Amino acid sequence: MQRAIEMMHDRQRAMTSTLLALRTIARKNLKAGTPPDFAQLRRLFRYIERFPQKLHQPAEEKHLFPVVLRRDAGAERAVKRARRDHATCLGYLDRLRAALAYWEKGDPNAGPQVAVLADDYVRFARLHARIETRDVLSVAVKVLSEQDWHTIEQAFGAVDDPLARSKGRADCAAALQALDGR
Ligand SMILES: [Fe+2]
Repeated sequence: MQRAIEMMHDRQRAMTSTLLALRTIARKNLKAGTPPDFAQLRRLFRYIERFPQKLHQPAEEKHLFPVVLRRDAGAERAVKRARRDHATCLGYLDRLRAALAYWEKGDPNAGPQVAVLADDYVRFARLHARIETRDVLSVAVKVLSEQDWHTIEQAFGAVDDPLARSKGRADCAAALQALDGR
């Protein structure tokens, strides 16, 4: 059980740190009136797209939510909300992708949009993590069996998130660079 919960928290942290890094770069460059390092912004975006959005959230939906519901039908509202939150995150992801592309093409309005979107997205991702912990994980720790947790740990563990397992700045930078070729 502990390992699965740690993995969830590590991945939520990696997602929010990456969004914060993206926001910081955007804000700094807007303030200085200089173009950002678009390659780095693309790298940060690519991580969020490939890991938290394409792999981790779907893994929660496939391996955690159904078993929570099987064990406690009373968690339906909380699980529905968590699924809705994941869909909302995908909406932020799409808008951020578009704004980044426009910024890189030279649209002067797109830079501020990137900064605002990254800020909204990270606030929402944090809220989602808090509510999911409060309303879904709190039920899971009460009703899931050791075998359930074992299956969830295996499923979550199959997603090799390069930032969630990174320790410190240099490690994260190397992990992001390594994504370039993948
Ligand atoms: Fe989630």
